[in-house]
Amino acid sequence: MAIQSRLMFPTGFIWGTATAAYQVEGGASEDGKGESIWDRFSATPGNVADGKDGRVTCDHYHRFASDFDLMKELGLRSYRFSISWPRVIPDGSGSVSAKGLAFYDRLVDAMLDRGIRPFATLYHWDLPQALQDAGGWVNRTTVDAFLHYTASVTRKLGDRIKDWMTHNEPWVAAYVGHLFGDHAPGLRDLKTALAAAHGILLSHGKAVPVIRANCPGARVGIVHNLEWVEPASPREDDVAAAMRHDGAFNRWFLDPVFHGRYPGDMLAWFADVAPDVRDGDMQIIAAPLDFLGVNYYTRRVIGHDPSGRGTQGRSVLAARQVHWPFTPRADFEEWEVAPEGLYRLLLRVAREYRPGVVYVTENGTPLPDAPAADGVVRDPVRQTYIARHAAAVHQAIADGVDVRGYFLWSFMDNFEWAYGYTKRFGIVYVDYDTQSRMVKDSGRWYSRVARENGFSIADAVAP
Ligand code: FCB
Repeated sequence: MAIQSRLMFPTGFIWGTATAAYQVEGGASEDGKGESIWDRFSATPGNVADGKDGRVTCDHYHRFASDFDLMKELGLRSYRFSISWPRVIPDGSGSVSAKGLAFYDRLVDAMLDRGIRPFATLYHWDLPQALQDAGGWVNRTTVDAFLHYTASVTRKLGDRIKDWMTHNEPWVAAYVGHLFGDHAPGLRDLKTALAAAHGILLSHGKAVPVIRANCPGARVGIVHNLEWVEPASPREDDVAAAMRHDGAFNRWFLDPVFHGRYPGDMLAWFADVAPDVRDGDMQIIAAPLDFLGVNYYTRRVIGHDPSGRGTQGRSVLAARQVHWPFTPRADFEEWEVAPEGLYRLLLRVAREYRPGVVYVTENGTPLPDAPAADGVVRDPVRQTYIARHAAAVHQAIADGVDVRGYFLWSFMDNFEWAYGYTKRFGIVYVDYDTQSRMVKDSGRWYSRVARENGFSIADAVAP
């Protein structure tokens, strides 16, 4: 049998990139923008690795036009970005800032002028601080405020943006922000985390019809961060531990959205800390969607651990992550480089949840990039990483999963939350002193992939 030397993707397959407002915009208090939980959180020493914040970051607020010129030049015709709630409604629930909305008006027009298709995320973690002061996602008034925000944004931009995502990674917002305390608002309580997750999911379900009403022809989805989970051994207790991790991480967020219920095994496990679910909540959360966004970064091998230590050193699941020494690791969290996990995950999600259209809305890897003496940023590891994950997507498509696009995280280096500026994920290098942009080698390669809608299989083999 002849070996296919090039992996070609279906016509119209999207090769995009992704960012988020707090990570790239800067302009932290410009034009009346309100304080967000990330402004507050990063101001506390010790919360962000390098002590920095997103007040200026890539200064995309002022530089978006030239950033989109570069995107266009690279042939990247779709862009996933997020809208900052406190820029649009400074106190979260009150009056709408005309200047805030005008910024996104200009931003979207600048994309469209350059033939770039906008994919907008409404919530990528920058909750207005005023809402957090009133309890944040745990308080149902935040859900109402989210609808007011969603309605304001979609009324203004719905004529031009047709692809909408309500939330980015509810697991991270809920767990990392409310249980691990590593993200804003920096809380550490499981019951609070699960209540926050419920508020976020409820706000998602309620927002779906609002978006549809304001955007004729809109396609609406949600973005979940999902992992491929494997038990550390076939032993019953390891299998059960892996099941719990999968339950808390993947199923807790997929089951409500696609099946209208929380997973029974996890409800039993969480018992008295499970969220307060009111009549009708689950039907609302399960509002029909047009697509699922999958953010994929790692596979996780999980073993039983009665001491309770678990992923990221903290666990309420009597489970712990096991690293097999032969598995390559990314320089981030406890991530393994495992493209096969993406392939298996996509097949599983399609089979168990039938989301119809799927986008890989994030995938990428950080490297200690630096321009060489000749000014070139050489990042062959990133190129291979992307190629192998895109090859996994290719195989999933061949096996019947309707994956319509791949959004690389990230277009440019940016503020990486609790890691500050110590992690570079971009295919464009950012010099934060001068704000100059430099396309990395991986960016040149990705540009060719986007133009040719495919790549040589040799690119997916480690250099
Ligand atoms: C994801 C986030 C994104 C970015 C990447 C590295 O969890 O959605 O904002 O930080 O990780």
